[in-house]
Amino acid sequence: MAQNKEELLKQRILSVVDDLSVDWIKEKFDEFSRLMTYYRCAMMEIETKFNVLNEEYSLAHDRNPISAIKTRLKSFPSINEKLMRKGADNSIDSIEKNINDIAGVRVICSFPDDVYELAEALLKQDDIELIEQKDYIKNPKPNGYRSLHIIVGIPIFLAHEKRVMKVEIQLRTIAMDFWASLEHQLRYKKDTTFTKEMAKELSLCAEMSAELDNKMDKLRRKVLKK
Ligand code: GTP
Ligand code: MG
Repeated sequence: MAQNKEELLKQRILSVVDDLSVDWIKEKFDEFSRLMTYYRCAMMEIETKFNVLNEEYSLAHDRNPISAIKTRLKSFPSINEKLMRKGADNSIDSIEKNINDIAGVRVICSFPDDVYELAEALLKQDDIELIEQKDYIKNPKPNGYRSLHIIVGIPIFLAHEKRVMKVEIQLRTIAMDFWASLEHQLRYKKDTTFTKEMAKELSLCAEMSAELDNKMDKLRRKVLKK
């Protein structure tokens, strides 16, 4: 059924564009798919680096600093929308130049100290280039959002070339992630109004959650006598 629909759509497109245009569309589509594959590879490299750090840390300290790693590739409509918002054209070069978060890796850590230790351990690696860093833990957003964001360049090694790709890494604690997911759900809920009072309450929740994180970090240091 779905395949029939797809076939029908293909036929309709082919009936309104000439052969030259079909070749052009196919070429652009292949170029885009190749670029997305490169970003996916870069994301895999970053994920592996964090898994290695997690393994090493758990050997030395008997606990895992990473609770979960999530990866996502930006969708085609979101890429288009962001290019339009930035007033940039939609060529492959423009995508690479103007968008830093096509490949996204979210690292959810146990304690706030883990966030900084992991970021430092990654940035020390000699194949990683720091492009941009935003510390929303030391300087939370006005709505209460907390996370450490870093954009890095990482090489991927293909059969005949080496290519440096950008990856956006968001490091946060379980508590910061909990707040961010709920805030996202509330903010993007359809057909509702988000009042100033609600925003204030949400920001208070973020502060309570940060306080909890700090208390847990202090407790951890006490337990480890650090
Ligand atoms: P974008 O155009 O959204 O990528 O913004 P930016 O380039 O200014 O980057 P920034 O570092 O501020 O945020 C990038 C990403 O962080 C977003 O796509 C979200 O995943 C996350 N983020 C930033 N602010 C918030 C927030 O207030 N709430 C939640 N839930 N997530 C946020
Ligand atoms: Mg983004």
